[in-house]
This record gives sequence, C-alpha cells and structure tokens, in this order.
Amino acid sequence: MILALGRNEFGNPANAGKTLTREEANTIFYDWVKNERLQLHMKQVAHLMKCWAMEKEGLNDADAWRWEMAGLLHDADWDQWPDQHCKKIVEELESRNIDPEIIRAIASHGPLHFGVEPITKMDKMLYAFDELSGLIHAYSLMRPEGYTGMELKGVKKRLKEKSFAANVSREDIADACNRAGIELDELIQFIIPRQPQAG
Ligand SMILES: [Fe+2]
Repeated sequence: MILALGRNEFGNPANAGKTLTREEANTIFYDWVKNERLQLHMKQVAHLMKCWAMEKEGLNDADAWRWEMAGLLHDADWDQWPDQHCKKIVEELESRNIDPEIIRAIASHGPLHFGVEPITKMDKMLYAFDELSGLIHAYSLMRPEGYTGMELKGVKKRLKEKSFAANVSREDIADACNRAGIELDELIQFIIPRQPQAG
C-alpha cells in the first residue's frame, strides 16, 4: 500500500488561522471513525497536543485548539479508507479552507510513510505523540492499575520488547524524538500523567 502524498504544499496560506469549530470537528470525527479504540487513540493524541501547546509553548486557547484539532483528526480516515490514509482528511480540510499549518501537521504525522517532513513544532509534536502514546496506552491496558503508578522504567522496558505492541514503530518513535529535539524520557513522563478520557 503506497500512502505517500506526493506533494509538499497543503492548503491555502490565505486561510491561516481558520479552524473548524469543536462541533464541526466532532462531526467529522464521529461520522468517519466508528472504531472506539481508534477514537480513544485520537482523543489521547488531541489531549496531549492541547496540553503541550498550553503548558510548553504557552499558547492561548485559540492557538491550542489548532494543535488539539490536528491531533483529534490526524487519523480520521484510517477507519474507513485505510488505502487513502492521510490523503482523504487532508483533502477534506483543504476543501473546508482550513489553516494550512493544521493540514500540514496532519500530512506530516508519519514522514516515513507519507513522505512529508515535519517542520513546525506542531508537526513534530504530533509525530512524536502518535506512536509513543499508543505504546503507553497498550501498556496501561495490561496493568491492573492502568496509568496509576506507571513508571518511566516500565515504559522503557516495554519499548525494548519488540513483541509488545509490535505494531508500534520504534523507528518512528526514535525518529520523532530526534526531530523534535526532545529526550525520550521527557516525552514519556509528559504522556503518563495525561491519560486519555473516554466519552
Ligand atoms: Fe495516530
């Protein structure tokens, strides 16, 4: 399956700052994504993006929503159109005249797959949170206490076990940390206390 997007320009610069409302984003989310595990993953990444934007980048509510929206919709087409993954949601957001930075963040969330380089901090953090949060969530599901009491060393041990959450790309995680200029330990410790909320 070839998922490379084959281009590097996304959206129209004239649409800078234009976002979906939360209601509009939720409509796409629930119309397109029926798989509850995928929904939870997307909500987890959205929450992490929002927390990072506000706590680490000092962004206001409106700018943090741009980050959160990128997280919320980054896998929106994976459930129903896996052979058009990334392409379909990118085109949908372009047709709705959404801020090109949000579209680009989604387009670059898997540079080794989609062939689009993460450039902005938003791009890089979406890429960084995507796979690692999946592994940490898988780890929480096998712990009786879930996220409670989870430690850095436990996550690192699971990362080293290739058979654990084998679909989570360790290569992507290492590449994402490099690009974002963030230590793996710091990223893990940011994710653990900000667990996903169902519903
Ligand atoms: Fe994802």
